Amino acid sequence: MSTIVDPAEILKSIENTPKMSASATELLSLTGDPNHNFCDVVAIVRNDSILTARVLKTVNSAAFSLMQEVTSIDRAVSFMGEKMLVGVALEVATAHLFDKKLEGYGGERGDLWRHDLRCAIASEEITKLAGTGFSKDLAFTGGILHDIGKSIISDYLKNTAEGALLQIEEGAYADYLDAEQNLLGTDHTLVGETLALDWKLPEPLRQVIRYHHQPAEASDEYRALVYAVHLGDLLAMMGGSGTGADNMHYTLDERYKDYLNLSNGDMELIILNVDEAYEKASESMAGGTDA
Ligand SMILES: [Fe+2]
Ligand SMILES: [Fe+2]
Repeated sequence: MSTIVDPAEILKSIENTPKMSASATELLSLTGDPNHNFCDVVAIVRNDSILTARVLKTVNSAAFSLMQEVTSIDRAVSFMGEKMLVGVALEVATAHLFDKKLEGYGGERGDLWRHDLRCAIASEEITKLAGTGFSKDLAFTGGILHDIGKSIISDYLKNTAEGALLQIEEGAYADYLDAEQNLLGTDHTLVGETLALDWKLPEPLRQVIRYHHQPAEASDEYRALVYAVHLGDLLAMMGGSGTGADNMHYTLDERYKDYLNLSNGDMELIILNVDEAYEKASESMAGGTDA
């Protein structure tokens, strides 16, 4: 079993993690601003040749079934929509984090991306139907980034997954987050928050990353958004997209019902829509496997 890791060592790993690209950071800030305009988005993509290439590749992929090849960025961005554009930008900018085997969780390469993508789509669908007042694009981005801390602490959790599960079963730990705390002295939400601060992510995204397992502790202003990702995370795991051993070993905060106005019919609709949208999105995004 692992032992408590010196927090300075984890901090060093975070500092050594490459910074997010300028274009991804700018796109994230724009997503958080309800008054931004389309030209700003296009300008950011144009100034980043790698992102431009990736956007064109994605929009011309089979998933979009376009009759003619799209070669202009303006058209590509309108076909793709901002949400997917941000997804592609994040995938490009953070491929080194998403595209690794989560050994500490017993997860395979690409599992983190698939889980985050499904969570992002679920959080977006929840936000659309639940009357949170938050933009669905922001919920999507929050879903993509919520578990980013896992890619850092996975390295420190090596060979602990089986033992952690056993101890959760024996009641030694309340859930996987508690197991991480006991094994390492920190957890993926705290490490993710440090990364978010280092990357200067907008405040609502920091709140999602930090509190997605303890949504009641998020600040009043962002709590409904954090509950949407909290529930989206559960739906992603229920839908079969987990990150390994920790799948379904987190506590659901039932108080989501106080923040998300969802009927049983809405939930059924969300689950159906998520399945369909996930299949489509995972077809068009490379999923970190051929980046
Ligand atoms: Fe998580
Ligand atoms: Fe998650």
